[in-house]
Amino acid sequence: MNTNDNNDREKKKKKEQVNIREMTIDDLAPVFHLGEKLFTPESSPNLYRTWDEYEVVDAFRDNAEFCLAAESEEEEIIGFILGTTIEKRRSSWKYGYLIWLGVDEKYQDKGVASRLFNHFRNLMITEGVRMLLVDTEANNLSAIGFFEKMGFEKPKKHVYLSLNLDSERPSGKE
Ligand SMILES: CC(C)(COP(=O)(O)OP(=O)(O)OC[C@H]1O[C@@H](n2cnc3c(N)ncnc32)[C@H](O)[C@@H]1OP(=O)(O)O)[C@@H](O)C(=O)NCCC(=O)NCCS
Repeated sequence: MNTNDNNDREKKKKKEQVNIREMTIDDLAPVFHLGEKLFTPESSPNLYRTWDEYEVVDAFRDNAEFCLAAESEEEEIIGFILGTTIEKRRSSWKYGYLIWLGVDEKYQDKGVASRLFNHFRNLMITEGVRMLLVDTEANNLSAIGFFEKMGFEKPKKHVYLSLNLDSERPSGKE
């Protein structure tokens, strides 16, 4: 990040009044639409997950208690976390996985994600989780900066490869 970016971020900073709460069924559509603005194919072209309505619906169906919404004073959804827990065979450790985290661009740099994350972290501790996991693309510097600030460390590089099978498709098929 360069000095101009830093200055812009400093100027925007003003802590926001925000209510962090569990998501309800009425939040599914607003969360989905907010995610559509944040997780575009351009912003995460190679991520193995893609943002679609099933990401929200499935996370809510499986783990509603780990799906959090951040609400503005005007009761608008301005951020969210979708998470889950993972238990591995032959391991006594329980893991928490933060699947998606997003804050409306208008409200970024005002501590909204920090508040969401702290709430999520406390939930995970209560749940007996011993380690939290997150992943993001290597060029998502705001997310990496955020996660580092929250105490995540030792980023490991994953390599994604792709094999284009398009030329082997029968011709004329869309
Ligand atoms: C990453 C994201 C959630 C951060 O949300 P936010 O509400 O702006 O974060 P906060 O204001 O709580 O920031 C807390 C800390 O994170 C770090 N941080 C946040 N934005 C940053 C940026 N653009 N660059 C570097 N560090 C950043 C800073 O250390 C900041 O602490 P500071 O305020 O003392 O400087 C937000 O940028 C976002 O929604 N990005 C798009 C979606 C995404 O990439 N999600 C993560 C992968 S699922």
